[in-house]
Amino acid sequence: SIYETKKKILLLGKSGSGKTSMRSIIFSHYSPYDTRRLGPTMDVENISVRVLGRLQLTLWDCGGQENFMFSYFSTQREYIFKSVEMLIYVFDMEARDFESELLYLEQCLDAIKVYSKDAKIVCLLHKMDLVSAETRDRIVNEKTAQLMKRTGKLAVEVFSTSIFEPSLYRAWSRIMNSIMPNIEIIRQHLRQFCEVADVAEVVLFEKTSFLAIAEYQAQEARARKGTFDEMSSILKTFNLALNNKRSTSFRSIRIRLKGFILIITNFTKNTVLMVITDNPAMTVATLSSNIKIVCEHFKKLEGPDP
Ligand code: GTP
Repeated sequence: SIYETKKKILLLGKSGSGKTSMRSIIFSHYSPYDTRRLGPTMDVENISVRVLGRLQLTLWDCGGQENFMFSYFSTQREYIFKSVEMLIYVFDMEARDFESELLYLEQCLDAIKVYSKDAKIVCLLHKMDLVSAETRDRIVNEKTAQLMKRTGKLAVEVFSTSIFEPSLYRAWSRIMNSIMPNIEIIRQHLRQFCEVADVAEVVLFEKTSFLAIAEYQAQEARARKGTFDEMSSILKTFNLALNNKRSTSFRSIRIRLKGFILIITNFTKNTVLMVITDNPAMTVATLSSNIKIVCEHFKKLEGPDP
């Protein structure tokens, strides 16, 4: 299988910033409202999640209370920061003391430089729903500039997120994209499918998280940017509404509107596929049978579960 590998992801940030909330929504079928019941994380919780059957992510959800943070930077420093694939630092946008959080971030980066110098670094400006719509852009720009001043030459990606908005899926899809091995191979196969089947747009979602793993858009479809970010959260909400705790319970959704066809279907064991076409000559039946054919192909790429 092309996906087989194990990766360590650190989730850090002050207590209450939303680390456990976001990973419970993405990977454990929590709704945003369920997260209100979460207590603080004691020390580090290691959560193993499988993506596409074989890519194994170990999320290190590091409790953010001060005494824990202190030990991450002292006695536990090597244990926490060694062999890290990605550091995700979560900032609570409701908190007042951004400067003191930046000091924590700096300490994380110092440790990362020593123990995992190739780690990717992502900062999330989280709980954006609590920032008024008029001031959002300004605040994001300000905080990002402040942040960049501290990170120096390190490449840091910044996203603004909220558990109540599709932005959470946008950020986590990008996160997943950047650590997925062989993402290019998957994209190539999607591109071929688009060209052969004359489809405008195709998106592959991971089945438990509904994160968009890869997408391809034909030239003329590129104007419709970002549709799949919204789609992740719509599908997730839909699936929660069906009260399904494991994975997708629907087999497929097919919509035909004025020469425009949208199909969302259970695809391989670990994925859901969304296909959009505006080719007036296309029928739902033809498109469905084309999807079946590529599906066999993707099953081979995915390989059997270990
Ligand atoms: P520690 O485990 O102590 O480090 O905290 P944590 O970072 O894991 O925080 P947790 O996920 O437990 O979230 C704390 C509270 O923030 C919960 O009540 C969540 O419902 C709330 N919360 C999380 N994300 C958001 C968000 O995007 N917006 C808003 N308004 N609240 C959020």
